[in-house]
Amino acid sequence: MHRPLVVGNWKMHGSRPANAELLAALLAARPFAADVAVCVPYVYLHETAAALAGSELRWGAQDVSEHAQGAYTGEISAAMLAECGCRYVLVGHSERRAGHAESDMLVARKAQVALARGVTPIVCVGETLAERDAGHTEAVVKRQLSAVIHQLGHCAAEMVVAYEPVWAIGTGRTATPEQAQAVHAVLRAQLQAATGRAASMTILYGGSVKPDNAALLFAQPDIDGGLVGGASLQAADFIAICRAAG
Ligand code: 13P
Repeated sequence: MHRPLVVGNWKMHGSRPANAELLAALLAARPFAADVAVCVPYVYLHETAAALAGSELRWGAQDVSEHAQGAYTGEISAAMLAECGCRYVLVGHSERRAGHAESDMLVARKAQVALARGVTPIVCVGETLAERDAGHTEAVVKRQLSAVIHQLGHCAAEMVVAYEPVWAIGTGRTATPEQAQAVHAVLRAQLQAATGRAASMTILYGGSVKPDNAALLFAQPDIDGGLVGGASLQAADFIAICRAAG
């Protein structure tokens, strides 16, 4: 089995002093048996890169423009992220799908521009509570992933996938390990059919991952690590989650 991956999604949190303290704590807690990354607000990429350079810790962004360059006020290109040393970029987070009307196709194009610049897209998929209650979980996540698989073509095996049930994000209501594993197995089968290399691909679980539930989630056969929101802002919690993955 490949190394697990734990990614902290800081969302729109942080400040220069708080970030410096958090990153210093992560550096001091090394080594980790898992690969560890933080996806930070754009404006903090430069100083995150400076703080983590020379360590094995990785960093990334939370979104990327579908465009290469041009008159797109306020947007950030994949080339710019590459220039900042980003290893990863989140695409299709539910907060962007819902709050910014991002379609499956737009998410797929973002994944493609990221990969083209050597930045690994972490493609987020997940159903709402209404979709789960209606029995549509599998259809929803397969539709979301399918758009990206088709757009990436033979490069599809290069992406990281994150299953984040919308109802579990920021709610304290985690999917049970069995619920998460069931969806991860569906996603891995879909990736296997498309790439033939799904065993080597990374599928993360996200949604209220905490120190006290991380180990059971990560013990599931198709869960390769976590995408952590709120708990990634507390050094002790994030470090405990990283250790639970290793
Ligand atoms: P929480 O861990 O705060 O539920 O957030 C999950 C998430 O959205 C990570 O991308």
